[in-house]
Amino acid sequence: MSAPFPSLITPRLVLRAPGERDIAAWFVRATDIESASLAGDPVPDHISAGERWLARSRRRFAEGRATQWSIDQKGVADAIGTITLSFESDARAAALGFVLARAHWGQGLGSEAAREVLRYAFETLALEQVRAEAAARNLASLRILAKLGFNHVESFIDETDGGRCERLVLDGDAASSLF
Ligand SMILES: CC(C)(COP(=O)(O)OP(=O)(O)OC[C@H]1O[C@@H](n2cnc3c(N)ncnc32)[C@H](O)[C@@H]1OP(=O)(O)O)[C@@H](O)C(=O)NCCC(=O)NCCS
Repeated sequence: MSAPFPSLITPRLVLRAPGERDIAAWFVRATDIESASLAGDPVPDHISAGERWLARSRRRFAEGRATQWSIDQKGVADAIGTITLSFESDARAAALGFVLARAHWGQGLGSEAAREVLRYAFETLALEQVRAEAAARNLASLRILAKLGFNHVESFIDETDGGRCERLVLDGDAASSLF
């Protein structure tokens, strides 16, 4: 039997398991070219890709490889984004990723979701480290990571587009002051 999904709540957000009703909003986000480019995600060409997105998300959760939350904003009908912890093979670390729909950028919602997922990662799962990567030009993402205490590890070139990326980490002992 698989583990129950760990829904999370913040003052403005509910983080819950993705479902069929999220596919249309996922497709709108995934086909925002600038957003996909910033996140380094492929752009789907048909909404049928949404079924594969959902199946993969569910499969990775069932296999214990990742937890991806759909982000609901209180009072907003469709999910406004996703946030994901992808567990690494040593099981004590995970990679963090997040995408919000453009209409919801710039309101502190990405920071609010990321802070709560980090609390879950360190307090509930007792992970030792959370890692993140962002394009060097992705100033909003890098700002969120810096505010949450991530430390820069190295710069590297993303071989898919030749752009510079930054690799950052947050260790559990350093994160305790966040919560
Ligand atoms: C990254 C993303 C989730 C940020 O969400 P958000 O809710 O807009 O972020 P927040 O409002 O919580 O915080 C953004 C911070 O970056 C700052 N910021 C935003 N754009 C900036 C820019 N161009 N230059 C400098 N700082 C910038 C904001 O001022 C804010 O910092 P502050 O809290 O000190 O004022 C959203 O922009 C997104 O979905 N982008 C596309 C996908 C993506 O890049 N995902 C991350 C992949 S690593």
